[in-house]
Amino acid sequence: MRAVDLIIAKRDGRELTPEQIRFFVRGLLSGEVSDYQASAMCMAIYLRGLTDAETAALTLEMAHSGETVDLSAIKGFKVDKHSTGGVGDKTTLVVAPLVASLGVPVAKMSGRSLGYTGGTIDKLESIPGFNPFMEISEFVDSVNRIGIAVVGQTKDLAPADRVLYSLRDVTGTVESIPLIASSIMSKKIAAGADGIVLDVKCGSGAFMKNLSDARLLAEAMVNIGESLGRRTMAVITAMDQPLGRAVGNSVEVKEAIDTLRGTGPEDFTRLCLEVASRMLLVGGLADSLEECRSLARRTLLSGQALAKFRQFVENQGGNPEVCESYDLLPNARYQEVIVSSSTGTVVRCDALSIGNASMVLGAGRRKAEDRIDHSAGVLLHKKLGEQVEEGEPIATMLTNRRDALDEARNMLSEAFSVSDVAAPVPDVILDPL
Ligand code: URA
Repeated sequence: MRAVDLIIAKRDGRELTPEQIRFFVRGLLSGEVSDYQASAMCMAIYLRGLTDAETAALTLEMAHSGETVDLSAIKGFKVDKHSTGGVGDKTTLVVAPLVASLGVPVAKMSGRSLGYTGGTIDKLESIPGFNPFMEISEFVDSVNRIGIAVVGQTKDLAPADRVLYSLRDVTGTVESIPLIASSIMSKKIAAGADGIVLDVKCGSGAFMKNLSDARLLAEAMVNIGESLGRRTMAVITAMDQPLGRAVGNSVEVKEAIDTLRGTGPEDFTRLCLEVASRMLLVGGLADSLEECRSLARRTLLSGQALAKFRQFVENQGGNPEVCESYDLLPNARYQEVIVSSSTGTVVRCDALSIGNASMVLGAGRRKAEDRIDHSAGVLLHKKLGEQVEEGEPIATMLTNRRDALDEARNMLSEAFSVSDVAAPVPDVILDPL
């Protein structure tokens, strides 16, 4: 087999066989397929697409290109969740303990922030002492003992995806639905859970900018999961404005704890309950989504999920006292309030600009090797559909970098629009699928 023949086949719109895809993915790591050939293949896939069978085969090969996590020693049906990435998305911090507190085991691998999107591991690391690194045996043992562990993704997980993604990033081929779907699902399949719930974000702060593309991505990922023997569900959720009112790391941990206490922001609480109820359904806890919703709601309000969060944090070396004393979390030295320049209704609260402002303040990474400032971020006092008076606070910037304030202030001022005419505010759940 020769790589060039496979590129020509895809360029001409022909379907590749599983053997050809295996040759290609193995060649990525062995060097038999060069970077320029892999890049040409990505462009051919971008232009021609992949069939469902090809997408599943590509996912499986990438999933098996490195370490796969064997969770069989964990009792019960293990459920994972994945968000395609957004701004203010601290959902795992709430849904993982919520679901675990109802007896569905959560053995989760999460990522770090890059660019304007946040990462669960960075948020958790803002808790003093929290350790996201564990041997697999310890990971399995933790889930067996307390029902939950959240660890950082290792470099050995789906390494072929890492190679391909770095080429896609510089060849204009990131935005291909089969490539995004197989990239995300290869890591989920390698991470070993029996069931997967996908939160596909849609809007300015998401990969998918419109509902039809978000549906295609959700369907592609559900097809992959089901065809590879994982019970998979998806939900499409809004990412035109950030989730909740906190964007950053320690500020998002505080907001997650508020939510576990039942006093979190409405949109974020609603999203958490929708994701958690799907995880419960996939995990077989009840027969209908409605039943799972009511179980999730009752459990959140009972304090049981917060107790599980405390136990989870303590198990991974973190200080559980942060749940009662937010002062134990990192606090930024500089705080600056931005006020509205007019009176009216907020009609734009742009997730992408707010995510970028938060990154400039130190909460995110421009490059993978950048260091995070866990205390930095943005607090939103006003969101879509809310009334604001001229001179009233609209957002607060938090940072330890005084020299970042000017740039972030400009970004935040552009992120908001206030109008005399109110526009409808979409529900956070765009498509329950
Ligand atoms: N996230 C991934 O892991 N892969 C993609 O291709 C896009 C987002």
